[in-house]
Amino acid sequence: MQSKLKAVSLFSGTGGFDWGAQQAGVEIIWANDIDPHAAKAYQSLFPNVEFVLGDICNVSHFPKADILIGCYPCTGFSVAARRRWKNLQERDLKANDNNFLYKEFLRALKDIKPKYLFVENVRGMTSADGGWFLDRQIQGFQEAGYKIWKGPLFAPDFGVAQARTRVFIVGIKKDEGIPDYISPIPEYGPKTSKPYLTIEDVIGNMEEWPDGEFFDYPFHGHYLTRNRKRGWHEQSFTIVANAHHVPLHPIGDPMIYISKDKWALQGDKNRRLSWKECAALQGLPETAIPNGTLMDKYRVIGNAVPPAFAKALIKPIFKFF
Ligand SMILES: C[S@@+](CC[C@H](N)C(=O)[O-])C[C@H]1O[C@@H](n2cnc3c(N)ncnc32)[C@H](O)[C@@H]1O
Repeated sequence: MQSKLKAVSLFSGTGGFDWGAQQAGVEIIWANDIDPHAAKAYQSLFPNVEFVLGDICNVSHFPKADILIGCYPCTGFSVAARRRWKNLQERDLKANDNNFLYKEFLRALKDIKPKYLFVENVRGMTSADGGWFLDRQIQGFQEAGYKIWKGPLFAPDFGVAQARTRVFIVGIKKDEGIPDYISPIPEYGPKTSKPYLTIEDVIGNMEEWPDGEFFDYPFHGHYLTRNRKRGWHEQSFTIVANAHHVPLHPIGDPMIYISKDKWALQGDKNRRLSWKECAALQGLPETAIPNGTLMDKYRVIGNAVPPAFAKALIKPIFKFF
């Protein structure tokens, strides 16, 4: 029997991407993250994977592998951040070094020289403001000897009950004779035989008021600038890392539109999704259990890549293997 493709994972977080990669048939052999709470969740999912806790900048040696996975943070390019930072340029990013962590990924890539690379970026990366930064990453990967596919994927198309779009980069090493990458094909939704999953499908049987599991800080002015509540038969708004901005649970009445950037809550049944509901709507297994405060739990769950994205992205490469 052929041995499995082995992967090194950087910025591994809770292990969302890696869980999907494993389901696609990949063996994760090494992982790293700086966040101890994410590490706890990762280790609950992957007890046998060597996990290095700490800043990637301090890692000097990487094991050899067929695949390099790296969902580095690109916080300055999120859609929310762009609203605040008009005309985002490199000088703005100097104040936000996180956006240059792709250079650490490139360093590992040049050291490991895997057959494949997989990267996740936020959606803002494809817009005019962020476009130059996406181009710069791709240029780096091409110069390192990889042919590149990039594209947005919509989570509901792959069985996630959450309207989350992310941009992915797949790289194939040029000198391996591997054919070009073929984009993942939607498995759910209008062009398929399966309907999109809904919030009800995923969290419909969970407790309505799970004490201590949801952030109950008052809803501030910014929170009420847009609709935050989707119905049971829809897909959730994007699950985010900041507990303040987590979407509302569908119970109670819908929010009502008042005027531009002004929405109002109705009735008294309004609460944010709990961290466990967020984990379920990300498609994470129940065994992914972060530690720390409620804020820590929301952060590591919201930062995760839905495993279904990884599974869909990685499956096509097995055609060539
Ligand atoms: C988008 S999240 C990764 C999500 C993860 N791949 C998953 O699927 O669950 C980015 C991760 O990068 C980590 N990170 C940020 N700066 C880092 C650094 N300097 N070294 C290592 N990890 C870092 C964060 O703690 C966070 O978990």
